[in-house]
Amino acid sequence: MTDNAASSSPLVAAARRESPPHTPVWFMRQAGRSLPEYRTVREGIAMLDSCMRPDLVAEITMQPVRRHGVDAAILFSDIVLPLKAIGMDLDIVAGVGPVIANPIASLTDVEAIPEMTPDAIGFIAEAIGLIIAELGETPLIGFAGAPFTLASYLIEGGPSRNHEKTKALMLSQPEVWDALLSRLAQISTVFLRTQIEAGASAVQLFDSWAGSLTKATYERHVLAHSARIFNAIGDVVPKIHFGVGTSLLLESMGAAGADVVGIDWRTPLDEATALLGPEYAVQGNLDPAVLFADWPVIEREVRRILAEGRAAPGHIFNLGHGVLPATDPDVITRVVELVHEVSAG
Ligand code: CP3
Repeated sequence: MTDNAASSSPLVAAARRESPPHTPVWFMRQAGRSLPEYRTVREGIAMLDSCMRPDLVAEITMQPVRRHGVDAAILFSDIVLPLKAIGMDLDIVAGVGPVIANPIASLTDVEAIPEMTPDAIGFIAEAIGLIIAELGETPLIGFAGAPFTLASYLIEGGPSRNHEKTKALMLSQPEVWDALLSRLAQISTVFLRTQIEAGASAVQLFDSWAGSLTKATYERHVLAHSARIFNAIGDVVPKIHFGVGTSLLLESMGAAGADVVGIDWRTPLDEATALLGPEYAVQGNLDPAVLFADWPVIEREVRRILAEGRAAPGHIFNLGHGVLPATDPDVITRVVELVHEVSAG
C-alpha cells in the first residue's frame, strides 16, 4: 500500500473493508458537467485540449472537492484521452461523446495502434502533482477505461446503442478481438500506473458498457483482458471495477481482480453483497435521476442505500452511474452532508 496522508482516508479504509469513521462519498462524473465554475473555465477550450493542460486538469479536479466536501477527488480526464495521447485521430464532440476518425476493423488496424509510454502522458503526472499538493489528506482516484468499453468506441466509431459491430468482431474474428483488447489493456495499464506513481490513492476501471454482454461472453472474451490490468497494478492501491446494467456480471467483475465492485441503481447493495460474498466492498448506488426528485424522496433513498450498504464488508457511497448534467449542485452538497451525518451517527 502507498504511504501518503490519503492512505488512511475513509475511502481507502472502506475499500480495504476496514471501519472508517463515516461512509465515504464521491460521485462518478463529479468533475465537470453540473458545475457552473466548470463551464466558466472550460469556455472556448475543447474537451480533450482541456485534459492535456495540467493547470486546468488540477483546477477542474478540485472544484467538486472544494464545493461539496466529497471524500475523494477523481482526476478530470476521459477514458479515450490515452488514445488521443498516443496519436489516434479522435475527438470528443459536445453532446455526442467520443468520435473516432478511422474505426478499427482488421488486424492491420489493431497493429497500427501504438503502445502507451509514460512519456506520452507526462502532463497527467504533472497535473496530479498539482492536485495532490492541494488535496492534502483527501485521496485522488485515478481511472481508466476497461478494454471492452474502449474497444466498443474504437470499433463503432462513436457511441452506440446496440454495439453490433463490436459484438460481430468479437464473435467472428476472435484473434483480432484478442489483439485489440490486449493492446487496450497495455494502454490502460500504463495510464493507471502513471496515475498511481504520481500519487493516486485508488483506481477505478470503467467498463461502462459491459452490461450489454451475457455472463458467458463476458467471461469468454473480456474478463481476462480486464484481469490483466488489475494484476499488473497489484495491491499498491485499492481497485474499483464499475459497469452499468451488470447485475448478472457482478461476481465475474469482482473475480477480475477488484477490491470494490461498483453497483448501478438496479441492484440493492445487500443483494449485491449476497452475490459477491465477504471478500468485496461495494460502491454505489443512488439512481442519478433521483437527484431531480423532491428532497424528502432523496433523503429516503440515501438512507435506504446506507442501510443496505451495512450488509457489505465495506461501502463507498456513490451514484449508480454518473452525475447528469442538469443536476442541481446544491442537492449534491446536501447528499454529502446527509451521508456523513447518518453514517457517523
Ligand atoms: O468523474 C469525473 O467527472 C471525472 C472525469 C471523467 C470524464 N469522463 C469527463 C468528461 C470521467 C471519469 C469520464 C469517464 C468516461 N468517459 C466514461 C466512463 C464513465 C461513464 O459515464 O460510464 C465514458 C463512457 C466516457 C466517454 C465519454 N466522454 C462520453 C460518452 C462523453 C459524452 C457524454 C457526456 O458525458 O457529456 C464524454 C465527454 C466527457 N467526459 C465530458 C466530461 C466532463 C463532457 C465534455 C464537455 O464538457 O465538453
